[in-house]
Amino acid sequence: MFIDTANLSEIKEGFSFADLKGVTTNPSILLKEGKRREQIISEILANSTGTVFVQAVGSHYEDMYIDCQRILALNDDRIALKIPANVAGLQVIKELKSKSDAPVILATAVFSADQGILCGLAGCDYIAPYINRMENNNINPYEVVRETRKIYDDQGFPTQILGASFKNTNQVVDILVAGAHTVTVPFEILRNMATKELAAASVDRFNRDWEELQCDLELVCE
Ligand code: E4P
Repeated sequence: MFIDTANLSEIKEGFSFADLKGVTTNPSILLKEGKRREQIISEILANSTGTVFVQAVGSHYEDMYIDCQRILALNDDRIALKIPANVAGLQVIKELKSKSDAPVILATAVFSADQGILCGLAGCDYIAPYINRMENNNINPYEVVRETRKIYDDQGFPTQILGASFKNTNQVVDILVAGAHTVTVPFEILRNMATKELAAASVDRFNRDWEELQCDLELVCE
């Protein structure tokens, strides 16, 4: 599982309690930090382990391809590309994946299984279906992921489905059950996965009972 943020405190805390495989970012996430892309990516690399996905921008093949080259020029083996799953993005993905030293590529902004087919054919390592944005637009993300996973398995595509865009922890559980291989979640959701009122009450009770036992045994009594 990945963390979907460029905030360094969130990254440090997330990595402290979750077995994360890396960090995903996009231009909106970078905007929140208000730093130059090169700077924030180098800070993320220094404060995390695993893959750091950086999203290429542009509306046409040429500008998107040039932006991919800029990202790859950051020159770190842990950096992978996030490229939109549209015509321009697929053109760039096909070109980059035709090379012997092809980078790891996550096709992003996926809203349908047919986009997933093209991404699989283009040789993407991952696709990111946007779960909450689909639900907000009356698209069933679980059906999209189920269909895409079936096609990938039937066709033998190695492409992995990395669910993205979550607003609650139920969506995370449901998309993994539907067939996503992995997910990227914002820090708040990661924290919510580890923070349950019932668990907190149980742990409080255990701690109080332990103190009472120490008192009964006259070991320590406050
Ligand atoms: C990650 O790859 C996506 O860019 C991100 O999860 C989108 O999330 P949002 O819909 O909360 O902006």
